[in-house]
Amino acid sequence: LLSAPPLTLAEKYFSLYPEEADPVWGNPCHDPRHIKIWSHNKTCEQLPRFLVIGPQKTGTTALYTFLLIHPNISSNINSPETYEEIQFFNGRNYYRGLSWYMDFFPIVKNNSAQYLFEKSATYFDGELVPKRAHALLPQAKLVTILISPAKRAYSWYQHMRVHKDPIALNYSFYDVISATDTAPKVLRDLRNRCLNPGKYSQHLERWLQYYSPQQLHIIDGEQLRSNPIEVMDHLQKFLKITPLYDYSSHLRYDIKKGFFCQVMSHDRTKCLGKSKGRAYPQMEERAYKLLQRYYLSHNTALVKLLKRLGLRSVPQWLKEDLSDFL
Ligand code: A3P
Repeated sequence: LLSAPPLTLAEKYFSLYPEEADPVWGNPCHDPRHIKIWSHNKTCEQLPRFLVIGPQKTGTTALYTFLLIHPNISSNINSPETYEEIQFFNGRNYYRGLSWYMDFFPIVKNNSAQYLFEKSATYFDGELVPKRAHALLPQAKLVTILISPAKRAYSWYQHMRVHKDPIALNYSFYDVISATDTAPKVLRDLRNRCLNPGKYSQHLERWLQYYSPQQLHIIDGEQLRSNPIEVMDHLQKFLKITPLYDYSSHLRYDIKKGFFCQVMSHDRTKCLGKSKGRAYPQMEERAYKLLQRYYLSHNTALVKLLKRLGLRSVPQWLKEDLSDFL
């Protein structure tokens, strides 16, 4: 049997199979040969059972915070690089490997009632994310939140301004969303980052190439805002978490914040920070009209997709976004 030093061998292998140069981490626990050679202090339970996939600016932090109030639900240790989000499946972190990812999660005992989850809001529209997530977590459940894509885009733009993005500071929202393909590259890039996540049907279809509809739970972001108690009830049923945790004694509307917040005592609540639920001027009418048109085909496809998935009623925001075209 002929062989070569490891590096030469690897070079030879990847020249024969270039498509394999980009790794896809599978679950070691799905293959007895892998378990055998795996470190003894690793456990398959140290992986999330469900993912909150975003998209950004739809209320993902509120959902994350509400989930953590539940005594049987825990998440990862915060990542110092990306605030609380690990952002494993989408960017360069993926190349850090499985151990890097798993080290973020506490070890929970086999069959424990503890549900681990991870929330990374940029997973939703990441091209490679569904494939990678499915390779590692084929049984995971997925939770996504949808609001009007037009409102989402505007909230994201405001977020970029607060973070002093020079392009967002230099150009109005209308400038960004109406930028044509002859506009400066930086402006086109910002436009794309602003608008692309809102093409909900496209992104959901990509997830549905890997996960079954039964594994996907869609939350109406407007309901999360106005009636989080009911939303959390439905979510627990979807996740099959028992006994049902009664959120009505843990969430209360805070008039000052204008949102539901966590109940700390009879006269005190803990709300999300200033960066969530910001005050900013209303979107210009012409910007909303442009976005209604821009998202028309995507929103129409979303209605079809939601019906196919068996959703009984179309969200109010979707009806409103489509209202000028019905
Ligand atoms: P705005 O700040 O534009 O109003 P994300 O956490 O995904 O970045 O989403 C932020 C958005 O969550 C906020 O956008 C806000 O509208 C919405 N949100 C929903 N429920 C909330 C809550 N209970 N507290 C604060 N913000 C909430």
